[in-house]
Amino acid sequence: MGLRFAILLSGRGSNMMSIADLLDDKSLDSDIALVAADKPCAGLAFASERGFETRLISYADRAKSDSEEELAQVIEAADVDYILLAGFMRVLSADFVSRFEGRIINIHPSLLPKYKGLNTHQRAIEAGDSRHGVSVHIVTAGLDDGPIIAQDDIAIEKDDDETSLASRLLPCEHALYAKVITSLIKGDLVIENGKPRWQIAE
Ligand code: GRF
Repeated sequence: MGLRFAILLSGRGSNMMSIADLLDDKSLDSDIALVAADKPCAGLAFASERGFETRLISYADRAKSDSEEELAQVIEAADVDYILLAGFMRVLSADFVSRFEGRIINIHPSLLPKYKGLNTHQRAIEAGDSRHGVSVHIVTAGLDDGPIIAQDDIAIEKDDDETSLASRLLPCEHALYAKVITSLIKGDLVIENGKPRWQIAE
C-alpha cells in the first residue's frame, strides 16, 4: 500500500528532488502531498515547478508556537503518513513532535550520535576521523537525537575539505533516504512505538 509524505525544507532541496524522482516510480504508489518551508528557498521553488502543493510557513514576527500551529494544521490537512525533514533548519518543539509521534523522520549528515547540530563535515575533519557518514533517524524532542533507522559511511581522504566531503556524501544521503522510504512503503521497515524495526536484513 502506498504512503503519503510531507517534506519540510529550508534550502536547496536536493534531498526533496531525489525523493520526488524516487516516487516517480508509479509501482511505489506513493506521493509527496506537501512541501513546506520556513523561508523562500530553491527547494520550495523546485517543488512548486514540479507541481507539488507547497506552503511557506513564516517564522518571522510571531511566536514559534504560532508558526508550528500553522505548520501542523497544513500537514494534518494534507493527510500524510510521514513527515520527512530534508534540510529543515528549525528545531521542532516537543509539542510539535508529540503531535506527530513516530511519524517524523530526519536525515542528518553525520554518523550519529557523533556531531549533532551544524558543521558536521568540518567537525569530522577537525577530529581526524577516518570515516564520515549520514544517518536517517526518527525525530524526538532532542536535537538529532532520536532512534537511528539507517546509516551509511564514506572514507575521509587526506586532502578532503568541508566542501569536497559534503559533495561526496550527498549522493549517499540521497541513496540512504531512498532506501528508507522504499522500505517503509514496502513494509520492510516498520516504525512502532517510536522505534524502527526492519522486517528483513538491512
Ligand atoms: C543535507 O546535508 C541534509 O543531510 C541536512 O541538510 C542538507 C540538506 O540538503 N539535514 P538539501 O537541501 O537536501 O540539498
